[in-house]
Amino acid sequence: MTYAAVARQVVMEFANGEDRTRVLHGVDLALPLGRMSFLVGPSGSGKTTLLSILSGTLTPTGGEVEVMGERLDRMQPADLVRFRRRRIGFVFQQYNLLAALSAAENAAVPLIADGVAWGTAVRRAREVLARLGLAGHEHKLPRQLSGGQQQRVAIARALVHEPALVVCDEPTAALDAQSGRAVMDLLDAASDDASRAVLVVTHDDRIYRYADQIFAIEDGRLVDADASHLPHALPEHGTNAP
Ligand SMILES: Nc1ncnc2c1ncn2[C@@H]1O[C@H](COP(=O)(O)OP(=O)(O)O)[C@@H](O)[C@H]1O
Ligand SMILES: [Mg+2]
Repeated sequence: MTYAAVARQVVMEFANGEDRTRVLHGVDLALPLGRMSFLVGPSGSGKTTLLSILSGTLTPTGGEVEVMGERLDRMQPADLVRFRRRRIGFVFQQYNLLAALSAAENAAVPLIADGVAWGTAVRRAREVLARLGLAGHEHKLPRQLSGGQQQRVAIARALVHEPALVVCDEPTAALDAQSGRAVMDLLDAASDDASRAVLVVTHDDRIYRYADQIFAIEDGRLVDADASHLPHALPEHGTNAP
């Protein structure tokens, strides 16, 4: 298999009183394994909606979505929840860590949710935290960590169950440049695994150079990611095409 995720002619409409507002107009896109793909575009263009559809948190009004060869748009809700828990990792702008849990416990959440015993799950989470440079911080609560460290815990949580697809919605938006780079270096390393694809939604042009491929979206349609739209898009890093 070449692609972790494929979208074909994806349409999304939201009810708006009596009307329906179409926010995605037939999007085709594929996320290759072993690559980091970016989805960029202005606020309100449909980035979060598309990310949510690709990761099975939102069901499209039309079109097909496939993750690791499985059709998400045809799954029963309970199967979709289980599939998402096992195959997909999530990173958000605001970290979304549970305040009462330690870093290791937060990172263990996907395993615990999937039925792995607490002790085993936390042990595996500690190993991932150590790999991400957080050895010695495992017992700390989120409020005892910096923003950059909290986002690294969130990345550990997104990787602990070895998902095939990791989706990140504005992962560096709340971070200073240096912490943002540290976070992107970790996501970059995670995307080097040939059994995984990483999707980063962003309008942070400081990090465009990390992208192996860039999808640009405007008003719910993919447009050419050419230099006029993306002044900083020329890759210094990686290859530009799968
Ligand atoms: N649950 C929803 N109900 C109605 N409209 C929505 C909903 N979610 C998003 N939208 C609308 O869809 C459009 C795209 O939103 P979004 O995907 O969040 O854009 P982006 O992430 O690029 O800023 C926006 O106009 C937004 O208001
Ligand atoms: Mg968004």
